[in-house]
Amino acid sequence: MRGDSMDRVLKFNIFRYNPMDPQSQPRMQPFMLDETDSMTLFIALNRLREEHDPSLQFDFCCRAGICGSCAMLINGKPDLACHTKTKDLPAEMTLMPLPVFRLIGDLSVDTGTWFRAMNEKVQSWIHTDRVFDPKAQEERMSNEEAEAIYELERCIECGCCVAACGKANMRPDFMGAVAFNRIARFITDPRDQRTNKEYFEVVGTEEGIFGCLGLLGCEDICPKHLPLQDQLGMLRRKMGWTAVRHLFDGFLGKTA
Ligand code: SF4
Ligand code: FES
Repeated sequence: MRGDSMDRVLKFNIFRYNPMDPQSQPRMQPFMLDETDSMTLFIALNRLREEHDPSLQFDFCCRAGICGSCAMLINGKPDLACHTKTKDLPAEMTLMPLPVFRLIGDLSVDTGTWFRAMNEKVQSWIHTDRVFDPKAQEERMSNEEAEAIYELERCIECGCCVAACGKANMRPDFMGAVAFNRIARFITDPRDQRTNKEYFEVVGTEEGIFGCLGLLGCEDICPKHLPLQDQLGMLRRKMGWTAVRHLFDGFLGKTA
């Protein structure tokens, strides 16, 4: 944190690289910009593109912390650029693209492909054998259940927790806290009829819940303050118990 005088000239050291251009070499490029009142990194990057270099690549859509597209490494820490005020940063700063995801160019990464694959891997939809009747009256859900689901649905798929995860950085097939949060959302939903054993088949692996090192970077970094560690703990207990129970069932000759 610093004072709020707007007489600073900011220095941005920005990662530049275009993987589509064989001439392009990864490098850091410095840019200077005078700071204005209530300046966010969204405003600063747009000014840099308009006033200095139209080829600078970065992603923005909502500018309101809702779409998740503007996540980047801000002085080494994953965060949303549209929600970050320059007055909360030192006069010299470094902007890098999120690791783990495929680089499109400069600060722009492809989170969409990663999240689509994750959602397919955890089968991110309600599993039920009930047939939908469009003429039937809508069924009620308790407020507590609806609120618990809503709490876990607040994820904006920005990728900050994935980029901050030591395991995801080491192991590309690691599902990450966002996937465990997704599964927790369906476990919480009374309409989903999956059994613990079925969830175990999806997430009870080293790429899944048993691969988490418990470093807690995900929850520390999540810009939406999702209770990721609670879900990790719940899922680990549930899946651990499911594995042990399965062993005992095997002992007793049950098929479970
Ligand atoms: Fe972003 Fe948080 Fe969702 Fe991770 S859990 S993708 S940090 S909103
Ligand atoms: Fe949508 Fe930042 S632009 S979250």
